[in-house]
Amino acid sequence: MSEGIAVTRDGPIAKVVLDRPDKLNALTRTMWQALGEAVTELSADDDLRCIILRGAGDRAFSPGNDIGEFATARGNKTQAIAYGNVMHAAAAALTACRHPLVAQIHGICVGGGLEIAALCDIRICGTSSRFGAPIKNLGLVMAYAEMEPLVRLVGTAIALEILLEGRIFDATEAKDKGLVTRVVADDEVAAEAAATAERIAEGAPLVARWHKQFARRLADPRPLTAAERDECFDCFDTEDFRTGYAAFLARTKPVFRGR
Ligand code: COA
Repeated sequence: MSEGIAVTRDGPIAKVVLDRPDKLNALTRTMWQALGEAVTELSADDDLRCIILRGAGDRAFSPGNDIGEFATARGNKTQAIAYGNVMHAAAAALTACRHPLVAQIHGICVGGGLEIAALCDIRICGTSSRFGAPIKNLGLVMAYAEMEPLVRLVGTAIALEILLEGRIFDATEAKDKGLVTRVVADDEVAAEAAATAERIAEGAPLVARWHKQFARRLADPRPLTAAERDECFDCFDTEDFRTGYAAFLARTKPVFRGR
C-alpha cells in the first residue's frame, strides 16, 4: 500500500484502488507515481492473470488530477513538465502491463480518471457514471501522452469533441462514443467487474498476454517482422494448449497453468 493507492490480491486477480475517497479519488503526483510502480510490479508477476482498477467508494473512479496541487506542484511550465513525467510514466506502465486490466467505474470518471480508464482493456461502468475532460475550462491542454490513449480508443473526432466542448456526459453517451465497453446497473458494477476478471483468469494466461502484446503491436504502423508473425504459433508448443485441447475433447473445464 502506497499513499493513495491500495493494492489487494485474491489469487490470480489483483485489485488496484485509487484510494482518496474524501477527494473523489482526485489524483496527486504521489498517487501517479505509486500507480505506475504498483502496475509495473504486478505486471512482472507471472502468477497474476488480471488486474481490476477502481476508485475507492462508489461516488467516483476519479475526477482527474487534484486541482489543489496546481498552486504548488504545477504552478508553471517547469513544474508541470516534472509532474507530467510522473503521470506519463504511470501511463506507460499501464500501456506495458502484460496482464488484462479491467476498469471498474463507479460515478465520476473525468480528466486523468478517464485517461487511466482509457488505458485499461475493458471498461465497465454504472448507469449513473459521468464522463468528460473539461480541461479547457482550466486553460490547460491534455498532453500528447495523455491524449494518445483517448484518441486510440475513440478516434480523433470523438476525442476532439470531448476536449473542445468539455461537456460532462452520461454512461449511455459514453457507451455510444465507445468510451466504455459495458454499462450495468450501479449496484452491479462490482459484481460484473469481478465476473469479468474471473472469466479472464480462467483462460490460458499466456494467451491473454499474447493477445495484449499483439493488440499493442498492431497499433504500431511498422510492418510485422517474420519473427513476430512466427511468434503467433508459439502457443501450439505450450502445455496450456494441450490442457485446453484435452479438456475440450473430454468436455471438462480446463485448468491452465500458464506454461
Ligand atoms: N481536484 C480536486 N477536487 C475536485 C476535483 C479535482 N479534479 N474535481 C472535483 N473536486 C471536488 C470539488 O471541488 C468538490 O469539492 P467540495 O465538495 O469540497 O466543494 C467535490 O469534489 C465535488 O465536486 P462538484 O463539482 O461539486 O461535483 P459535481 O458532481 O457537480 O461535478 C465534476 C463533478 C468532476 C464534473 C466536476 O467537479 C469537475 O469538472 N471537476 C474538475 C475536473 C477536471 O477539470 N479535472 C482535470 C484536472 S487537470
